[in-house]
Amino acid sequence: MADNARLLAVKGLLKVLPAEGGGRSLRDILAEQPVLPAAERGLLTDLMFGVCRHQRLLDHWLNEQMDKPLKSSAKAVRLALLCGVYELWFSERPQHAVVNAWPDVCRALKAPWAAGLCNALLRKASRTDAQQAGRHLDVPLRCSLPDWLWQRLDQAWPEQANVIAEVSLSPPPLTVRLSDVVEQAFVEQGLLDEGLEVQRGALAPQARYISPPRPVHALPGFAEGYLSVQDEAAQLPALLIESPPAGRILDACAAPGGKTGQLAERFPDATLVALDIDAGRLKRVRDNLDRLQQTATLLSGDAGKPTTWWDGVLFDAVLLDAPCSATGIMRRQPDLKWHRRDSDIANLCGLQTRILDAIWPLIRPGGVLVYATCSILPEENAGQVEAFLARHGDAREDTPTEHRSVVTRHGCQLLPVENGPDGFFFARLRKAN
Ligand SMILES: C[S@@+](CC[C@H](N)C(=O)[O-])C[C@H]1O[C@@H](n2cnc3c(N)ncnc32)[C@H](O)[C@@H]1O
Repeated sequence: MADNARLLAVKGLLKVLPAEGGGRSLRDILAEQPVLPAAERGLLTDLMFGVCRHQRLLDHWLNEQMDKPLKSSAKAVRLALLCGVYELWFSERPQHAVVNAWPDVCRALKAPWAAGLCNALLRKASRTDAQQAGRHLDVPLRCSLPDWLWQRLDQAWPEQANVIAEVSLSPPPLTVRLSDVVEQAFVEQGLLDEGLEVQRGALAPQARYISPPRPVHALPGFAEGYLSVQDEAAQLPALLIESPPAGRILDACAAPGGKTGQLAERFPDATLVALDIDAGRLKRVRDNLDRLQQTATLLSGDAGKPTTWWDGVLFDAVLLDAPCSATGIMRRQPDLKWHRRDSDIANLCGLQTRILDAIWPLIRPGGVLVYATCSILPEENAGQVEAFLARHGDAREDTPTEHRSVVTRHGCQLLPVENGPDGFFFARLRKAN
């Protein structure tokens, strides 16, 4: 009998990977899975994330081994093979157990004809490893990036692109933001008492790297709202918001609410409005705020069309954490690189421009707009700010750049770091008085 987690991984990946006819988000599919014992859940998650991360290399190796390609009707078998090779190359699980497990999965997929093939291929895979398989390959094949994305990264960051590609393959660290409202030493002690290692971040004062990773709900202090899971770079934009204590702040693209919670903690007496176009995702903002025992006014609406939701009272500050290519967080959402197309980038830039221009008039003279993305593509970031400044004579830039990892004409660009922060960009724009 095939074990449940491996079978579920194949069925889940069929719904995710566009090349296999999927197209749904990895996180959504994982959220729909039945409740499993912790170890099985861990295996399922690892297989699904891992195959998305390394899909191109795995595919390439498999193609090289086969005299003729599998029929297109054998998509599930193909995925079982990719999962098996992934498990052999990237997991610590005993090789013989892996080689024995996947033929059973083929049988459970009603493809008993593939069991022998699977066994033979996995035996072959166990005699090599990812390093050897990728040794003579170009970066996009070795690091499993679509060609169009690699070309953009290589053009934007010729000196850093190889590292960016490598980092996109590494699992992200578990980073938390300690709450503003509880003594940090107290929360840290709770983590240490559980045998966890806690390391301070170098950029954000409330960032702590926790190891070994564990499900967020199992972190001491999480349920009480003493800490939130948030990447270190993602903690920086909200720190640039300036407002009088009882001012009005807009979080213009708020869901799932990581930065809304941070703003609510920083400005407890402010009127905080959290807007998102996706009413369903606003529920997650509410849950986050409830856990932190914070409040905000939640609105569902298009930030690019304020007439549909704005009450006409100016804001002191706006945080626009814009929809973007998410190229700075590929290691966290490895399915995105297969879902996106080259043409999406121009569309995203257009959307960002539209929102930027629509919310600028909502800010009072002297107020600030913090524009942020988890993208590492210049056209969504420094290029977007450059064009904005050219269009708006009443805007001037004042971004603290001490944390930037590369020099850009505008804003602060961070590139992703192994075991460190995600790739992120932010810029602060101040309106003339
Ligand atoms: C990068 S995420 C925001 C993450 C969030 N700030 C946080 O820290 O948790 C971008 C969000 O923008 C929302 N969005 C996309 N287009 C929008 C629009 N036109 N108006 C308002 N929200 C929009 C998406 O639904 C998504 O929740």
